[in-house]
Amino acid sequence: MLFDKQLAEVLENEQISAEEILGAFEVPKDSKMGDICLPCFKFSRTLRKAPPQIASDLSKSLEGVDFIEKVDVVGGYLNIHLNRKAIAGTLIELLNRENIGGSDEGNGKTICIDYSSVNIAKPFHIGHLSTTVIGGALYRIFKHLGYNVVSINHLGDWGTQFGKLIVATRKWSSLEEIAENDEYFLNSLYVRYHQESENNPALDDEARAWFKRIEDGDKEATAYFDTFKDVTMRAVSKIYNRLKINFDSYNGESFYNDKMQPILDELETKGLLETSEGARVVNLDEYGMPPCLLVKADGASLYATRDLAAAYYRKQEYDFHKCLYVVAYQQNLHFKQVFKVLELMDFAGKDDMEHIAFGMVSMEDGSMSTRQGRVVWLKEVLDKAVEKALAIIEEKNPSLEDKAQIAESVGVGAVVFSALWNNRIKDIVFSYDKVLNFDGETAPYVQYTYARSKSALRKGGDYDLTNLDLDAILDDDGYEVVKSILAFGEAVKQSAKVREPSVVTRHIVDLAEKFNRFYIGHRIVVDDEGVKNARLMLTDIVGRTIKEGLALLGIDAPEVM
Ligand code: ARG
Repeated sequence: MLFDKQLAEVLENEQISAEEILGAFEVPKDSKMGDICLPCFKFSRTLRKAPPQIASDLSKSLEGVDFIEKVDVVGGYLNIHLNRKAIAGTLIELLNRENIGGSDEGNGKTICIDYSSVNIAKPFHIGHLSTTVIGGALYRIFKHLGYNVVSINHLGDWGTQFGKLIVATRKWSSLEEIAENDEYFLNSLYVRYHQESENNPALDDEARAWFKRIEDGDKEATAYFDTFKDVTMRAVSKIYNRLKINFDSYNGESFYNDKMQPILDELETKGLLETSEGARVVNLDEYGMPPCLLVKADGASLYATRDLAAAYYRKQEYDFHKCLYVVAYQQNLHFKQVFKVLELMDFAGKDDMEHIAFGMVSMEDGSMSTRQGRVVWLKEVLDKAVEKALAIIEEKNPSLEDKAQIAESVGVGAVVFSALWNNRIKDIVFSYDKVLNFDGETAPYVQYTYARSKSALRKGGDYDLTNLDLDAILDDDGYEVVKSILAFGEAVKQSAKVREPSVVTRHIVDLAEKFNRFYIGHRIVVDDEGVKNARLMLTDIVGRTIKEGLALLGIDAPEVM
């Protein structure tokens, strides 16, 4: 709500605090009732007065406030109409700012975000889309608010699967062939291994032995391991480039090989480790959870052991204010256990660990990420979306220059957007037609609106800020656009606060819808200079806001479409 803080301060008195008032404000259902409404019922007990009386008393304190147009008392409600001109005036100030929605509220605070965290030797599948784009969006949103953000790709680069791959490589391929081929080739060996090992369990013994050699730092084994990692990282970075994703650290599971012992020692000293069937565990019965398994009977460490070591390492290395883990809700229990163990250890960052869970993506045709072996590779989804975007562009605007480039922005943008539109915890069903619908709540719709704003600005040319007829943008349609722009900064803050990029996504769709309504009802480039200038200014700021919002989400904003 615009001006709510200022209003609350004016309304505050000895008996009711600004905070209470701020918490009570509502947006009237019908905008004709005003911009902000204060129901006074809840104050009647403290003030010992009837709500209509309270509303009427409060209305007096608003007399003469420059940004208020009028105040109505309706029953126990105080309906406040802001002065549209005063509000629009604040738009002009935005033009001088470097951005519309940034702030410095995070200055001096460091946030670690663990996201994407792909697994080596497996092609990037659609199950890793959400973590990658939600994490990437949160990274940029926090940065926009002045936080120091550290993006961490906790690579899945440890485990017995590497022993299996070595066996497969030696039997059916070679190190050279692997190095020359892509991630799909690597994956095909893995699949073949699984088929063959079903009838030949001896393969698993070989695999275990090879993995042991990796653990022991054996040269030959390490060469295989490094090659697998190289092939995967080469492929993964192509996808990251397309998704505009960067990492400050790629310290994955193998990085913690030599950092787990001190943690285990500390657990031991604190009396938290128990032996159970030969394994070392932290018993979590008391907290209604199964034990957290840290060392297997054969001495091998586990995923959780590495996460404990990583938490300590990150605290020491980055001194984080918060450490976020953008990981699917299937791992809820894992994080609950790890966080509980950290708490029992009295870890310095124990209160600042957060699991940012999200739902599953399935395909419209029923295929899902890794279940039943029907894997959907992200590269294929991106390529297909781009291909479809190109077909749409060919049809709508065949003379467009750089069609391939724009199709890439639209297709990839559509896929990214689809993972950022809903509350992250919701499962989503992916449909190409839906995400590429130019008239829906989609990236192409927002991108198209941006291109439309740019086209109007090209046509209108420079506008003169000293000759603005603000009334030309302050009818109901225009005023909705103005309010949406001015609320963008709050939306960015809110999205960071609740760790939900969808707050930004929804805000820019809302702005695009409002602007399109205005655009359809009003000519921008008209003869009257004052009117034209005001509408061009509004169009300009709309474009800037949309572009900034899309950039936070990791989506391109082509100038033409
Ligand atoms: N590699 C894991 C997976 O694909 C995700 C790792 C998440 N991060 C972490 N610190 N546990 O499921």
